[in-house]
Amino acid sequence: MPEQPLPQPRREYTAGELHAHEVDPDDPLAEVRRWVGDAVDAGITEPTAATLATVDAAGVPDARVVLLRGIDDRGVRWFSSRTSEKGRQLADRPVAAVVMFWPQLERQIRLRGRVEHLPDAESDAYFASRPRPSQVAAWASDQSAVVASRASLDAAADAADRRFADVAEVPRPPYWGGELLRPDTVELWQGRRARLHDRLRWTRLVDGWRLERLQP
Ligand SMILES: Cc1cc2nc3c(=O)[nH]c(=O)nc-3n(C[C@H](O)[C@H](O)[C@H](O)COP(=O)(O)O)c2cc1C
Repeated sequence: MPEQPLPQPRREYTAGELHAHEVDPDDPLAEVRRWVGDAVDAGITEPTAATLATVDAAGVPDARVVLLRGIDDRGVRWFSSRTSEKGRQLADRPVAAVVMFWPQLERQIRLRGRVEHLPDAESDAYFASRPRPSQVAAWASDQSAVVASRASLDAAADAADRRFADVAEVPRPPYWGGELLRPDTVELWQGRRARLHDRLRWTRLVDGWRLERLQP
């Protein structure tokens, strides 16, 4: 099949600017929170969607999208199966990178650091807040395992439905929970004219953060 040429956009990025004097040099996670808030306010679809990159035991990278469910002084968190591909990778190598991109705002965020399980109480509280069908689905799906057919997945979901039919509160599966990325580096990227983009990167030090501007 002949190759279809890709469109070659030459878009100029003019939506905003990013200056060191406008950010808190000591609190990159506050800046991440602010930008996610801006994405929410801008009405962007799935404003908390983030690409989560991990590495497997052989050092081969992998990546997929998850929804961030919280950002606090510790870092950013999401929820998933711990027996999934990503769960096994994180068990082997508890490090990750997270990337978010909001085209309408011409902004990108990158975080890198170590990952740990959220405390059980936090995973329990979040699981309890989920809609019941999502709770049941967490029991029905062995995330990342091969499934013979759509019909067998639906049958597993029906079986989980029946199993919990008389249960008021669906419990959190033992293999499902929250993960917390504690960033060692945080980068905010704002597109600028003529590819001279603004990049500010925070690097964690023993007693705080170093803030630097990077070349585009
Ligand atoms: C918009 C979007 C949001 C998603 N959110 C999550 C999530 O919060 N948690 C999750 O486990 N998977 C989520 N997924 C599915 C993952 O991308 C992925 O398919 C799944 O986690 C299995 O990945 P793995 O095989 O690498 O473990 C989401 C996918 C998309 C496209």
